[in-house]
Amino acid sequence: MEFREVLKKRSMCRNFDGRKVEREKLELLVYAASRAPQGGNEPVREYILVDDARYVKMLRAVSPSFLANAKATIVICTDLKKAEETMGKQGRDILSLLDAGAAAENIALMAVELGLGVSFVRSSTDEAVKSILGIPARYRIDIIIGIGYKSRNRPPPIKGFPPKVHHNMYGVGWETSN
Ligand SMILES: Cc1cc2nc3c(=O)[nH]c(=O)nc-3n(C[C@H](O)[C@H](O)[C@H](O)COP(=O)(O)O)c2cc1C
Repeated sequence: MEFREVLKKRSMCRNFDGRKVEREKLELLVYAASRAPQGGNEPVREYILVDDARYVKMLRAVSPSFLANAKATIVICTDLKKAEETMGKQGRDILSLLDAGAAAENIALMAVELGLGVSFVRSSTDEAVKSILGIPARYRIDIIIGIGYKSRNRPPPIKGFPPKVHHNMYGVGWETSN
């Protein structure tokens, strides 16, 4: 598939159908996340793979914008204590958060390959998420990714604005070729 087409298909999905996501596909999504770069190359990022409908329901209840009726979720979190010990404050507050975004995008791209859709969710009550999933206090919830098969009746993607690009120097316009 031409890469622009892959990216068009990669937009957030906010409505899934009833199909369960196969275990092998969830494992491939986590594999894709694990291939994302990590600042300092320190293993401070971890994943909670949630495919029990009861827990997914509880997560939705504490995530007001968890719009998607996802069948599974991957919660990406960072061990802040380990991140600070190995990479200092910048590693804890910035590098590890960028890492989580890179991992989330790898998941979104792999999802296209697997015929799945994803929904990124950041606005959740983090303490409640930790309590539901038994995540220790020293972890930061970076992002929750809802996963499922896209419903045919889903609303169109929200995106559509052109990128603001500068050429060599801030303020010098870059004319995109298409
Ligand atoms: C860090 C991050 C957090 C996000 N959190 C939410 C969220 O809490 N709820 C939500 O509905 N979408 C969330 N999104 C998805 C964006 O709103 C979405 O990418 C944007 O609206 C573009 O929509 P589209 O991909 O469908 O075109 C988040 C995206 C990112 C990158």
